[in-house]
Amino acid sequence: MPANALSPTEIATLHQRATEAAQNSYSPYSHFRVGAAILLHADERQTGAIVAGTNVENASYRLTSCAEQAAIAAAVTLYGPALHIRAVAVVNLNGAACMPCGACRQTILEFAAPDTPIFYPSADGETVSTTLADLLPAAFRLTPE
Ligand code: THU
Repeated sequence: MPANALSPTEIATLHQRATEAAQNSYSPYSHFRVGAAILLHADERQTGAIVAGTNVENASYRLTSCAEQAAIAAAVTLYGPALHIRAVAVVNLNGAACMPCGACRQTILEFAAPDTPIFYPSADGETVSTTLADLLPAAFRLTPE
């Protein structure tokens, strides 16, 4: 296990916090209840806290905020702009496969390294672990790396 890998307890806690957030989903149009939880790096500025978010829909559909974006907005609000995401978990209460959408992948990248683990449910209900780089291999960047 790599030194920075999450323990099974950390993964379970992240999953639990995302599930709790999904229970507050405002999704009267899609009825797709999503929760996301982000684990912050524990360093001199951050606490290793978990911050969760849920999707908030709107009658003007494109104004919908995804769960991942809600979690990141909450984390910036709580901990400031120098946010370092250690891991992300996404869940839904619909028993569906659910990877972060393209926009959320780009939003996560703003605050996370390419090897950041992302956990999401597969079609058979298992939690899959991947990385941000696998989900977004050709991300938009203002300056080439
Ligand atoms: N949704 C998320 O919250 N996260 C994603 O990564 C994909 C989609 C939400 C938006 C909308 O409220 C519902 O799922 C259906 O698209």
